[in-house]
Amino acid sequence: MFVKIALVSIFFALLAFYYPSFVPFLAKFAPQKPNPKNSRLFTPEELQLYNGNDKPELYLAVLGKIFDVSKGSKHYGPGKAYNFFVGKDASRSFITGKFGDNDVDDRVSDLSQEELRSLNHWVGFYGKEYKRVGKLIGSYYDKNGELTGYGREVKKLIEVAELAKNNQDLDKIKYPPCNVEWGADTGTRVWCSNKSGGVTRDWVGVPRQLYQPGQDYRCACVQTPELSANLKEYEGCDSTSESCFVKT
Ligand code: HEM
Repeated sequence: MFVKIALVSIFFALLAFYYPSFVPFLAKFAPQKPNPKNSRLFTPEELQLYNGNDKPELYLAVLGKIFDVSKGSKHYGPGKAYNFFVGKDASRSFITGKFGDNDVDDRVSDLSQEELRSLNHWVGFYGKEYKRVGKLIGSYYDKNGELTGYGREVKKLIEVAELAKNNQDLDKIKYPPCNVEWGADTGTRVWCSNKSGGVTRDWVGVPRQLYQPGQDYRCACVQTPELSANLKEYEGCDSTSESCFVKT
């Protein structure tokens, strides 16, 4: 019995002593983690080769993220409609629709929030439909694969643009758009219904001018007529009326 206890104690003592150096040794035999999908870094010159000619694969970059679009060769292959995008980062062209030699531009920070959302949608599309193969060293990623200052700026701008959209969506639920019609004799009529603005609800509301910063006012249906600085009644329209003829 004593021998057994002594052997077990020696075993644990040795284990405790050698454990720190044993772990890295064992790690060598552990299955390697697969290379993260976006770890491979490409220079612009390397990416350029993935054009279906110099190399058989077709790669494109959007916001510095590189995708293998080979399975979409009917769109991206040599001579095909979207071959322009291959072998480069032409992020801006996803918005401008300009596909000329002089239109290759990956800078997008001056785009509107809507355009940035559209671009972000393209990134999502490629992430879903195609395999991400790496990052392009350039405007968005540095040679260590870290986001550059510009990359961080664009990331932030996109986050803000997406948040603004969420707020707009919430706003649309709170203040659904009115129905609008125009007749040569009658002029413009705005009115609320329980489906106006495509927002199905169990209330109808009354039309009001909704003023939002940096935008023209729009007609919104307001559930409980409230007095606020950004909501105004239509001139000549009864404050409880669901329908108003308005001057435009
Ligand atoms: C800003 C302008 C545009 C951009 C950036 C753009 C970009 C693209 C891209 C990248 C694809 C390939 C998607 C994939 O990988 O499956 C595509 C497909 C396609 N685009 Fe465009 N496009 C634009 C405008 C247009 C316009 C104006 C038309 C129509 C007149 C059009 C018609 C099509 C069609 C028919 C497909 C193929 C859909 C399919 O077969 O799956 N595109 N577009």
